[in-house]
Amino acid sequence: MDQIKESKVIGVATPRVDGPLKVSGSAMYASDHHFPGMVYAWPVCATISSGTLTGLDTATAEKMPGVIAIYHRQNIGKLYRTPPSAGFTMIVDEKRPPFEDDTIRYHGQYVAVAVAQTVEQARAAAECVKTTYNKQTHNVDGKLLNSALTSPKPEEKSKRGDTAAALKDAKFKVNEVYTMPVETHNPIELHASVAVYDGDKFTLYETSQAVVNHRDVMAAMLGVPPEKVQVITRFLGSGFGGKLWPWPHGLLAAACARNLKRPVKLVVSRQMMFQSVGHRPAIDQRIQLAATPDGKLTAVQQDYVNHTSILDDYDEGCGEITPFIYSTPNLLVTGGLARRNVGNPTAMRGPGAVPGLYALESAMDELAIQLKMDPVELRIKNEPTMDESLGIPFSSRHLKECLTTGAEKFGWSRRTPGIGSMKQDGLTLGWGVAACSWIAARIETEASVELRQDGTARIACGTQDIGGGTYTVMAQVVSHETGLPLNKIDVVLGDSSLPPGPISGGSWVTASMTPSVLEAAQKASKSLLQVATTSEGSPFKGKKQDELELADGMVRIKGQAQGAVPMGEILRAAKINAVSGTGKSDGTLGGKPKFSFHSYGAQFAEVTWQPEIARLRVSRVVTVIDAGRILNPPPARNQIEGAVMMGVGMALFEETMYDPRTGAPINNNLADYVVAVNADTPNIDVTFLDYPDYNLNALGARGVGEIGLAGIAAAITGAVHHATGVRVRNLPIRIEDLL
Ligand code: MOS
Repeated sequence: MDQIKESKVIGVATPRVDGPLKVSGSAMYASDHHFPGMVYAWPVCATISSGTLTGLDTATAEKMPGVIAIYHRQNIGKLYRTPPSAGFTMIVDEKRPPFEDDTIRYHGQYVAVAVAQTVEQARAAAECVKTTYNKQTHNVDGKLLNSALTSPKPEEKSKRGDTAAALKDAKFKVNEVYTMPVETHNPIELHASVAVYDGDKFTLYETSQAVVNHRDVMAAMLGVPPEKVQVITRFLGSGFGGKLWPWPHGLLAAACARNLKRPVKLVVSRQMMFQSVGHRPAIDQRIQLAATPDGKLTAVQQDYVNHTSILDDYDEGCGEITPFIYSTPNLLVTGGLARRNVGNPTAMRGPGAVPGLYALESAMDELAIQLKMDPVELRIKNEPTMDESLGIPFSSRHLKECLTTGAEKFGWSRRTPGIGSMKQDGLTLGWGVAACSWIAARIETEASVELRQDGTARIACGTQDIGGGTYTVMAQVVSHETGLPLNKIDVVLGDSSLPPGPISGGSWVTASMTPSVLEAAQKASKSLLQVATTSEGSPFKGKKQDELELADGMVRIKGQAQGAVPMGEILRAAKINAVSGTGKSDGTLGGKPKFSFHSYGAQFAEVTWQPEIARLRVSRVVTVIDAGRILNPPPARNQIEGAVMMGVGMALFEETMYDPRTGAPINNNLADYVVAVNADTPNIDVTFLDYPDYNLNALGARGVGEIGLAGIAAAITGAVHHATGVRVRNLPIRIEDLL
């Protein structure tokens, strides 16, 4: 496809087309759906973390007001496991369907579900179901690196050269362990499922970042053909990865609807959000670096272990970025899993890269100090000329410029390296920096575009808008292609019956959808021109198609505004309601790609430290992002700002704590699980370099959902060290670490 350079709409600040729906409260989220006769389900959660369910007494609960049914292993009906997944199909977080056996593997595992007329009645009944257990010892220990690993053993993820030899010989080296606790996604919109079953077909209103996969998984687990399931997610109150793949509650809602032949709503409580819908796992990482006296890396080794659940293998993939971000002849990344009695972990914003870069970039800062070298300079010194892990060229990499631009904007040259040496208004300042990267990709996508007699266009794609602006950016793409104004373009997403679209994950939607939407729009306009040249009543009848064009929503002789006819009139004259085109684009993942596709960035953080009252604040962040061409700058900036905030939370606050006695997450609410809020917001300065990556798609767009979080925590811990002299290697940073 030709590179698209000039555009009146692409790259232009464009208000979100779904904004009015959201601010007026008319956007329908999953749990907003109500249907006649709808009833409510509330799960019964295991109160132990390991053992066997020996008894379930539902007698009291069944007699409670409004209670319709209590379902459990004996009466829920048949539920199945999914067949093996391939690509982005049939992916499920917990392979075991709810109630499959009586073994309890984590606290909060569903053992029954109460259904009642109101949500209060369902909850009350669920709480009155009496459970008895045969308890066994559980393990929720957060120490992972040297713990007994049940399976699998740490394995090699990437290797080149002889790391052990290089580490042994080096004069300058770092060898440290960095740890991260469990983080819980906590999107404001709770996970929810409204299941409607008409005796033949399921319509499921879900909180899903991947409606097509969700449909296929639900069909497989319910044991029906995929055309008997339709999954709808029109809007999401974010997900951060927690809503990528189906969780057991959705299947419970569907099974209850199947049993009762009534619509069933199940909303996961905030407490359950900490138990049964995923989290970023606890992660321990050892980083070893070796360098020459002038700062050239000679070896990089990263050994990580993340926890996973008893039954499912979730690999955080912390070595995602390490093999290509710096030039080094010797490199080794290993990764392993440690089983714990926890719900299954899952992808959380920037999985792999975010924790991996926290450790790697912290170690780079420690190395710079050892070398008495500026940390920006150390990174520039190790800039590779190609992706050394795959032996292929970078498609578009401007990390150096991210670092130099960021340094300039931040005022880095004024930094004095001495601990606590910088003061401002009576506060001690600390400055830190980190580089970051995130994979860019196109994944398989189909889309269709219709041009209609009423002068509007309709884009349809079975993807969804997680909140980042997919509706708007796709309208911009079609507006660019057809010249129609945005208010004449309907974007229809969030429905599994539409042409299969990309998962809202990996920051891949924009790059993936753009080629297929462009192709669909081009085919639709070709079809329109065919109508114009062939139908009675068209002023262009008899002309050749390639003499004509669709511009500003009008059919005209190429380049001639005079005599242009609105597309609606052409279709009206031909008595055709709409012409359409479909587009299909392939993926770049898998196999050995031609180019190394990644986004890059540099994060500069300033903290203020008041030792007198032990007050630490992140006061300023300058972030420079190289994410290809930015199609709609305001929501893109918004993504980066939100990610920076999440990085502040990661560095200073977020930690899911498990009670060692019960194995239960104990700070399971938004009062005790502390996230960064407005009062914690630093001054955030976002710059996009805006270099189009035309190898990825015609518009040169990559994606911005995750990159902004990568590197932030390391920049902050580096700044904290600069201010206080304390190197915090176990997140989150606690005040007591600094005293
Ligand atoms: Mo993102 S963690 O790929 O939803």
